[in-house]
Amino acid sequence: MLRKRKDTQKETLNEGHRRFASNSTQASIIGSATRSTTNYISIALLAVVLVLTVCNFISLKRLENYDFFKNRKSEDTNKQVADRPRVWIRGQRMEAGYLKHVIDVFQRIGFQTVNGSFQEWDILWSHEYPFTKGYFKTLKPHQKVNHFPGSGYITNKVSLATSDLKHIPVAFLLPKSKDKLLKFVEENPDHLWVKKSNDHRGIRIENLTVSDLDSPGTFVQQYIHNPFLIDGKKFDIGIYVTLTSVKPLRVYIYENDVLLRFCFKEYHPFDENNIDSYVVADDYTPIWEMPSLRKYYVDLNLNMKQSLNAYLRSMDVDPEQIWTQIEESIASVYVAKETMMSQLSTAFNSSRHFFEMVRFDFLLDEHLNVYLMEANMSPNLSSAHFAENKLLYEQVIFNLLSLIGATRSLDIHSWTNYPSKAWDMRVSDKDLSVYEDICSSTECHLSCKSSNCQVCFYCLKDDFKLHLKDAYLEHNSKWGTKRLIPSTNESFIKPMDSVNELNRLWFIGKCIQDESWC
Ligand SMILES: *[C@@H]1O[C@H](CO)[C@@H](O)[C@H](O)[C@H]1NC(C)=O
Ligand SMILES: *[C@@H]1O[C@H](CO)[C@@H](O)[C@H](O)[C@H]1NC(C)=O
Ligand SMILES: *[C@@H]1O[C@H](CO)[C@@H](O)[C@H](O)[C@H]1NC(C)=O
Ligand SMILES: *[C@@H]1O[C@H](CO)[C@@H](O)[C@H](O)[C@H]1NC(C)=O
Ligand SMILES: *[C@@H]1O[C@H](CO)[C@@H](O)[C@H](O)[C@H]1NC(C)=O
Repeated sequence: MLRKRKDTQKETLNEGHRRFASNSTQASIIGSATRSTTNYISIALLAVVLVLTVCNFISLKRLENYDFFKNRKSEDTNKQVADRPRVWIRGQRMEAGYLKHVIDVFQRIGFQTVNGSFQEWDILWSHEYPFTKGYFKTLKPHQKVNHFPGSGYITNKVSLATSDLKHIPVAFLLPKSKDKLLKFVEENPDHLWVKKSNDHRGIRIENLTVSDLDSPGTFVQQYIHNPFLIDGKKFDIGIYVTLTSVKPLRVYIYENDVLLRFCFKEYHPFDENNIDSYVVADDYTPIWEMPSLRKYYVDLNLNMKQSLNAYLRSMDVDPEQIWTQIEESIASVYVAKETMMSQLSTAFNSSRHFFEMVRFDFLLDEHLNVYLMEANMSPNLSSAHFAENKLLYEQVIFNLLSLIGATRSLDIHSWTNYPSKAWDMRVSDKDLSVYEDICSSTECHLSCKSSNCQVCFYCLKDDFKLHLKDAYLEHNSKWGTKRLIPSTNESFIKPMDSVNELNRLWFIGKCIQDESWC
């Protein structure tokens, strides 16, 4: 169609050129025949010819502009809309606007929003856990979903609190662990307890009564009674954590900034009935209203994390000890839950369809020990209450989308279909080769059995290569995020099975090649 139209245009154009040429010839003939007549007539004639020529030219040009640009424009716009990647954003009562920043960032990176119930989509961003809702039965190879099957092992309060991990205050599920609890209380009579349930937001300090211990669906957790206070207020530290793969496990944290939220009221004098003094609620005190932090956050224009660091240093405290514990705690949770989660992913063709960002909330005690309170699925990214948080939320979303490859919208429909030309220029097989000294040994050439040889390119299995290519791309687009797992630090928490060991070995190999991987 397009070609035909263009050919027709060409003909019109040539015809126009011919006419223009013959007009000029006419003009010169006329000129020579009337040399003896007065200048007056010749000028008049010339003027007429000139006007005719110009008219001819203008109408030709107009024709050309009109037809040509009109067609091209509409073709281009249609093509753009069809090719633009599609995100299906959904959540209950979305009209309330709490997903505004999510929608904005997706649009800014070139996505069009669609209704996936009847339109094609590339990414599903679901506020609710989508796997029990029947939003989809199967996933097409290129589709990505913002939750992992089984992420509830991490975000479910009971499941997390009863994980028996360092940095998580001890907790007991009732009535199942009633006896254990009673024994523990006997040995630690000074502990305070909070009763929690999965359905209820928020917590409340309770004196344990015998009747409590038999009510199903609740659990009690040790209450951290000596929190670290700033300007007399208790606060929590929200860390945005992204999981991009299980088996092998890859976990990242947003490193540039954190969310600090301070209790509405001062902690002392302590009173259990004054919940606003020990629970961070929706109308918490923001950092810019905290006298000791305001000067960093507002006057020096630092972000929340930098402000906290600067404040702690001014108190002669090294903030690194906090961040190290926080990283340890997050890593330990994923390592503990990975196997259960990966079993649920097997219902799908590949766990490469999934990514998930959650917010881990931490608390410090007065000795700067770190405690993990909660991991929130679909953390609130709405700045409706505190407009100043817009920047943080948009950066968190943008960094996440960059990490998972959504900002590389070129050829998005084939992002899982290696190899293709579009991918080789970003990550090719050559980028996967590590340990050239070991891999050139006779031992490895004879057999891939030895664990050192398994990471040699010629020993890698095809599906594992895809994971490594994902990891390579994440490394190059991680922006303000930091990889926690796998870590090249030998003494850092790590999953111990063979798939993850092989994965870690590969990262160490990359780290030897280029220290930005360490
Ligand atoms: C999407 O389409 C489905 C099916 O037509 C409809 O029930 C649903 O309300 C639509 N959702 C939105 C947000 O428009
Ligand atoms: C399943 O995954 C493999 C490798 O990840 C891929 O090659 C294949 O196309 C996928 N099949 C379907 C039906 O998605
Ligand atoms: C718990 O018991 C103590 C001492 O018996 C009492 O002072 C306190 O008010 C009680 N707390 C609650 C929340 O009932
Ligand atoms: C998110 O937080 C805002 C206040 O900042 C609140 O108005 C809104 O209800 C919250 N949304 C959800 C889904 O919790
Ligand atoms: C390696 O990990 C251990 C354990 O978490 C930590 O104490 C140490 O500081 C880390 N080393 C480096 C260089 O990060």
